[in-house]
Amino acid sequence: LALARADAAGPPAGVLAGQARFLLAALGEAPAPDRAPAAYVRDLFDQFAPRFEAELTGRLDYRSPALLAALLERAGVAKARRLAVLDVGCGTGLSGAALAPFARRLEGLDLSPRMLAEARRRGLYDALHEADLLDWLPRQAPRFDLVAAADVLNYLGDLAPALAAIAGALAPGGLAAFSLEAGEDAPFALHGALRYRHDPAHVAALAAAAGLSEVAREAAALRTEGGAPVAGALLLLRRD
Ligand SMILES: C[S@@+](CC[C@H](N)C(=O)[O-])C[C@H]1O[C@@H](n2cnc3c(N)ncnc32)[C@H](O)[C@@H]1O
Repeated sequence: LALARADAAGPPAGVLAGQARFLLAALGEAPAPDRAPAAYVRDLFDQFAPRFEAELTGRLDYRSPALLAALLERAGVAKARRLAVLDVGCGTGLSGAALAPFARRLEGLDLSPRMLAEARRRGLYDALHEADLLDWLPRQAPRFDLVAAADVLNYLGDLAPALAAIAGALAPGGLAAFSLEAGEDAPFALHGALRYRHDPAHVAALAAAAGLSEVAREAAALRTEGGAPVAGALLLLRRD
């Protein structure tokens, strides 16, 4: 009741109510919302930005960008700098570095300005956009040959809108490549680390409904957390 009153009051109380509801859901005390609140994700990564790369590539043995690049190569996509590539949730650009060998033009999109500032320093991207992927992608013409998202879709629960938006931004025959944290609960489950797990088979079915056919689906350890591997899945899809 208190959260509903805060919602009705509008910002900033409504924003905080959304975050409180998200936290309660991660603790199993409320139904999981369709997505992590954008303000929560932005603040989290704005704070994390200065130490993100050192932590991820060091202690956390983060591998999603390299795994996605290897998946593309195994599917016959050459590192020939020929594709118009969008790096969704580009963060500081670790994923952009792995995607650059495929890209004639590389664009990045993220909702955290401080992550984007780090990405800009890298000098890899032809364009960087500060926006929520669910707002920005639906406004794009179908102009990308490859849309990639490394460790990003685990901040969304319901992936149907994101998959439809990715499909809409791809040129016919274009590819989508992304990682998921894998779980068996369909359609999704929010876990204690405040991220979502998805059932890869269910996501592949959602993607097919959005006009994205499965090219490859693989299990993979995305990184280490609390000393244990994070079980994930890599999906490669083609726009029909
Ligand atoms: C774990 S980081 C991964 C960054 C990068 N892809 C990499 O592999 O290093 C997740 C990034 O996704 C961004 N992100 C999460 N949800 C987003 C959304 N709805 N729209 C845009 N960016 C989002 C975060 O701000 C963060 O920079």
